[in-house]
This record gives sequence, C-alpha cells and structure tokens, in this order.
Amino acid sequence: MSRVFSGIQPTGVVHIGNYVGAIRNWVRLQDEMESFYCIVDYHSMTIPYDAESFPRRVLEAAAVNLAAGLDPEKTSLFIQSHVPEVTELAWILGCVTPLGELQRMTQFKDKARQHAQSINAGLLNYPILMAADILLYKADTVPVGEDQLQHLELTREIARRFNAAFGPTFPEPQARLTTGARIMALNDPERKMSKSVPGSYIALTDEPDEIRRKIRRAVTDTGPTSGEMSPGVRNLFTLLEVFDTEGATYRALREAYDQGTLRYVELKDAVADHMIAHLEPIRERYQELIHRQEELRAILAAGADQARKVARATMEEVRERTGLRT
Ligand code: TYM
Repeated sequence: MSRVFSGIQPTGVVHIGNYVGAIRNWVRLQDEMESFYCIVDYHSMTIPYDAESFPRRVLEAAAVNLAAGLDPEKTSLFIQSHVPEVTELAWILGCVTPLGELQRMTQFKDKARQHAQSINAGLLNYPILMAADILLYKADTVPVGEDQLQHLELTREIARRFNAAFGPTFPEPQARLTTGARIMALNDPERKMSKSVPGSYIALTDEPDEIRRKIRRAVTDTGPTSGEMSPGVRNLFTLLEVFDTEGATYRALREAYDQGTLRYVELKDAVADHMIAHLEPIRERYQELIHRQEELRAILAAGADQARKVARATMEEVRERTGLRT
C-alpha cells in the first residue's frame, strides 16, 4: 500500500497558502493511502522562537489541521520530536549529503539573508531533517506546495545516494501538487504568500470580516497590462477556482474577464464569499478543539505510537545496513 507523509511548521499562523497547497490534499489522501502527518517542531527551531509559547503553538497547529479535516481514525497526526529517531536518521543521511547541495537551496539562501545575524547550522541542515522525515516512514507520496519541490528533489537524491552506498532501502518519494501549489501574497503577488510577510496572508482562522477586508485590499493590476493576466488577478482566480467547488461562479467570471467586462470588485467579492463559506466550519471546529487540550494530546500521542512503530523498524534496518551493529 502506498504511504503518504507531509509536515507543517508550528509557526503560529496556518494560512490559506498552506491549506490550498498542502493540507487540503492531505485530507483527500487520507482516504486513499496510509498517511502520516507531522507538526515539525524541530524544523521550527532553526529560526529564533519563543520557547515558552512553543508548546501552545504546536497544539494550535495540530488543532488547525484536525479542524481542516484530518481524521485521527484514518491518519496518524503527530509531533516530530515525539519520534526522536528522526534525528538519528538525519545524522546518518547528513553523511551522504553533499555540502554544495545544501548551500544552493533557495530556502536556505532566503532565510540566511533574512537572519543574517544568526545563520546557524540548523538552517543549512534543514533539508536533511526533512529528508529524514520522509525516508524514516518510507513514504512514496509527499503532498506539498511548490516551494518544497527543491527539498523533495534533494530527498530523492539523498535516497539514491544512500541506496547506492548501502543497498536498496528507501523508495524515491514523489511530490503531489495540485491547483494552488503556489498561492501568492495578496499585497505583493510576485511573491508567495507567507506568514513572514505581513499583509500577504489570510489565516485559516480569520473572521469573515477580516477575510473580506484583506481580499478587498488585494493588489490586482499594478500598472498597464501587456494583455496578459496580471499575477494578482491570476492569484484571485486560482483562489476562486479552489474555493468555488461547484465552479459556476469561476466559469462566469473567467468568461467576463475574457470578454473584458469583469470588474475586479466582483471578482474580489466572489472570492471572499466562497472563501468565507468554506472556512467558516473550519474556524468553528478549531474554536472548539483548541479548548479540548487533553483530547488533542491524546490524538497526538496515538499518532506518535503509530509513527514510532514504523520509525523503529526503519532504524533497525538502517543500523544494520550502515554497520552500526557492533
Ligand atoms: P511549511 O510549514 O512552510 O508549509 C507547509 C505546507 O504549505 C505549503 N505552502 C504553500 N503552498 C502554496 N502556496 C503558498 N504560498 C504556500 N506556503 C506554504 C508548503 O509547500 C508546505 O507543503 N519544510 C516544510 C515542512 C516539512 C515537510 C517535511 C514537508 C518538514 N518535513 C516532510 C513535507 C515532507 C515547511 O517548512 O513547510
């Protein structure tokens, strides 16, 4: 049976880019495959963070994912650090990963620029830990947004190198992308939506008024157009395509656009209406869940138990193959 793995950082905000690019697909795939989804707390330690509020943020991330439709009966949702075998595998994989590959990762370069005062080794090694996540569970399918493709390609290379050195052990995982794999910043549609860019995102738990206000302010055309659809308008159409699940409004407004009769305010109102209707139940479930901390912890503990079984078996095999068995 195929196995799916994916992860999300507990960075305080889960935004509609995360939802459209990744979580929505996690929810779909839990019906088709054995699935492991992970709140990657170790990854979030690579940039400055507040240790005191960290446990709460991890629980919030878990609650958002459950509210968005992950079902603990079908999937194992767990916290990365609850299965510390991943750090052992990361060490071993680090020993087959070329330094130059790590240095050329776009995300490393971006973050090194953003945190120029404190470029720690964790930032550089980040993709090795991500490869360890995926390979520890021998996942063959990894639903992610476009920004993670480079890391996934490196994971495949690390798997190949390990397999070549020590014998076939890991499958080469495939990315799973869908419409909306790159949702752009609302206020700057040439860049991706990101929680580190204020004004760029809508949080999954934003109130309806807030959503409407943010969409109203979204940049559409920044200057004279060359006849091509501008990035801001394209982004709004992508969001409409995703959130208008029946597609009737999307088709009507696309046609109006093609005929040159579309008013952007109509497009914005349509995006806001469909998004609000779609996110409302998620926000309500989240408000309920976040107050049921014991239940959340129990779900995460059960998820970690499932994950640990697979992790232990993989590590026995890896230790055997790599000669860690004196
Ligand atoms: P993270 O926490 O930044 O994002 C979680 C998921 O959301 C996707 N995403 C987007 N998709 C579309 N448009 C956007 N603007 C957008 N922004 C974010 C991301 O592509 C991701 O799928 N390194 C990963 C976490 C990770 C992981 C893994 C993922 C750790 N181990 C193993 C897959 C497999 C990250 O920082 O995602």
